[in-house]
Amino acid sequence: MAEKNKLISLDNVCKYFNVGHGKTLKAVDGITLNIYKGETLGVVGESGCGKSTLGRVVMGIYHPTSGKLEYEGQEVNLRKTKDRFQYSKKAQIIFQDPYASLNPRMTVGDIIAEGMEIHNMYTKEKRTQRVYELLDTVGLNKEHANRFPHEFSGGQRQRIGIARALAIEPEFIVCDEPISALDVSIQSQVINLLKELQERLGLTYMFIAHDLNIVKYISDRIAVMYLGNLVELAPSDDIYAHTLHPYSQALLASVPIPDPDKEAQKRAQVLSGDVPSPINPKPGCKFAGRCPKACDRCRAETPALREIRPNHFVACHLVQPE
Ligand SMILES: Nc1ncnc2c1ncn2[C@@H]1O[C@H](COP(=O)(O)OP(=O)(O)OP(=O)(O)O)[C@@H](O)[C@H]1O
Ligand code: SF4
Ligand SMILES: [Mg+2]
Repeated sequence: MAEKNKLISLDNVCKYFNVGHGKTLKAVDGITLNIYKGETLGVVGESGCGKSTLGRVVMGIYHPTSGKLEYEGQEVNLRKTKDRFQYSKKAQIIFQDPYASLNPRMTVGDIIAEGMEIHNMYTKEKRTQRVYELLDTVGLNKEHANRFPHEFSGGQRQRIGIARALAIEPEFIVCDEPISALDVSIQSQVINLLKELQERLGLTYMFIAHDLNIVKYISDRIAVMYLGNLVELAPSDDIYAHTLHPYSQALLASVPIPDPDKEAQKRAQVLSGDVPSPINPKPGCKFAGRCPKACDRCRAETPALREIRPNHFVACHLVQPE
């Protein structure tokens, strides 16, 4: 994609948490990445690998411990209140849990209008009108504005979460596992709504998920994360046709298949062991302890993310440019 279409850039971004006793948890550990206007970047990886932390850094909830975040070529300094406030008008988030993410004591109308109020957008009457329009946009109706979140199903609550994110007319939305708490029957409705809104409003998404099937359907490019690092980044079609990193291969192979016996067998073969702790990680490739191809070099030297095929980046010593 052309350089001029770059919306967000991360340059060696780290987010560390101090977890006491002199220990540091490296949730995001040096990520360099561009997000282009109008695209959906899928982010996948096992639980605890840093997807949500990355999403929170990108949308400005967390200050990076080090590294640089740029929006349309301008550095965003999240320590400055003014920068943070301005950025919060451009970047929004839709959370995984539609139950916990809506204030139970506020009406749906107030929840959706809150961001517009904070950013001093429109008159009160116009805000009410916008709330009705937004409810309509996400497949609900104006009568829902005076009700409370507990009166809605999970799918409807996620629609309210989407309306809230859209209210301040953001350009970029982090969708942090927005459908994983929903019934399978409702998941595709919410995905289709997100896709339709993207086309209509020209939105850019970072779409976080465990499920590689869903990411494939919605993403233009996919980033695979392992323990705070990017291990593979490529256009969707290419990553499925040429899965190059051993961890991505294992993740893809562990996409559920219909026969439960075969599935158990397959999972056991490909991804044994849990994600190791991100606290004080060992040097070398972080996947070495679980990688069937690991050699001495892997335990000593951290592999850099390199372009192996056009626009296809991989961090593995054994994968050589084609
Ligand atoms: N505020 C925090 N303080 C300390 N540790 C944190 C904090 N937030 C996240 N972590 C840790 O950072 C690591 C990455 O967490 P994160 O929530 O980003 O993972 P994830 O990939 O989103 O996982 P999941 O798929 O389960 O949502 C985990 O080890 C987590 O325990
Ligand atoms: S660098 Fe080594 S341990 Fe890491 S993924 Fe590649 S082969 Fe496996
Ligand atoms: Mg998460």
